[in-house]
Amino acid sequence: MNTSSLPRIAVLATGGTIAGQAGDASKTAGYKAGVVGVDKLLDAVPALGLVARIHAEQIASIDSKDMSAALWTTLSRRIDALLAQDDIDGVVVTHGTDTLEETAYLLHLTVKSTKPVVLTAAMRPSTALSADGPLNLLNAVTVAASADAAGKGVLVAFNNQIHSARDVTKTSTYSVGAFRSPETGVLGFVQDGRVEFQRTVVRPHTAASEFAVAEQWPMVEIVASYADASRVMVDALVAAGVKGIVVAGTGNGSMHATLTQALADAVKKGVAVVRASRVGSGHVMRNGAASDDVLGTVSAGTLNPYKARVLLMLALGSGLDDLQRIFDTY
Ligand code: SIN
Repeated sequence: MNTSSLPRIAVLATGGTIAGQAGDASKTAGYKAGVVGVDKLLDAVPALGLVARIHAEQIASIDSKDMSAALWTTLSRRIDALLAQDDIDGVVVTHGTDTLEETAYLLHLTVKSTKPVVLTAAMRPSTALSADGPLNLLNAVTVAASADAAGKGVLVAFNNQIHSARDVTKTSTYSVGAFRSPETGVLGFVQDGRVEFQRTVVRPHTAASEFAVAEQWPMVEIVASYADASRVMVDALVAAGVKGIVVAGTGNGSMHATLTQALADAVKKGVAVVRASRVGSGHVMRNGAASDDVLGTVSAGTLNPYKARVLLMLALGSGLDDLQRIFDTY
């Protein structure tokens, strides 16, 4: 086979369980994430050579619970620089599953290219019996090498499914089918080298997005509503200089009366407050379970609290204040 005409895909490794190592092959928990280097991950998948020519970089070696906004800036800028090169056709990012949905959405809104960007991960460490990382990596590179993946924003290839970065979320602590897109479903499938899209992405992203990563990120935090919630956390955040708060509300973004009063006070002090839901699916309607018009709050629509935080950070970091338009658009 003449491989010189294959697409050239950059694989950027950041750590995670896909690069995890346990002392015993029977262990799928109790391992250390982010210790195996990108070259070893690639060596474990010889079939990659039939799909793409690989350029590999180790961007970080972390457990993704420790992902930082500074690393997001580095990653987004590196992807943009690589995709600006004529000899790079797409990018795959290997990542931990725990914050994959946040990084994916951040890149979906900040990368300025229509070339494919695909994130993947694994639920079992690389040393495990039936490790899922090698096939997920092969599938992610297969998607990134597919012309059909261009212009669809950032994608997540996991367990033979292709998800949009906007909609995907981790829904299991142990299953190799850990990711779902609850309100919208998968975009398509990748299996045995075949990439099949069944839906497309209509909200603006990547080159059509108005956002860019920042050197300095605004402080945006998440608080939850629950039975007997107090105002202690909101007041402490306001005292600490928070710029935005996302509420993981009950139901359709409803909030305990005490929390509602604290957040209304925060809005009067200039803090941006976005109502999302802790439920895990469904949407939070403007003026639905709480009056956004009266409180001065914004509804998150179908974004979960963690993705709503990403969008609020980007909006505030870009100096934008028409926040309901932003949440209705992205
Ligand atoms: C991580 O998110 O880095 C650890 C967990 C995982 O990848 O499944």
